[in-house]
Amino acid sequence: MYICICRAVSSTTVREVIADGARTVRQVAEACGAGTDCGRCAAHVRALLEERHGPRQRGRLQPGRRTVP
Ligand code: FES
Repeated sequence: MYICICRAVSSTTVREVIADGARTVRQVAEACGAGTDCGRCAAHVRALLEERHGPRQRGRLQPGRRTVP
């Protein structure tokens, strides 16, 4: 099934790119072109990334954890 209509990229291709090491929407775009036009497929790409790697941790500081030694 195509998930990126603009670039005619299938979910199979995106899964292959992710299996080959892409970990972000940008890296998927660079590898296969998905998301490089209108961007409507970015949510689908993100879902496939989370399917493989789990939910992305977004910039929250952990209590009691310091970022600068
Ligand atoms: S649907 Fe993927 S860039 Fe438009």
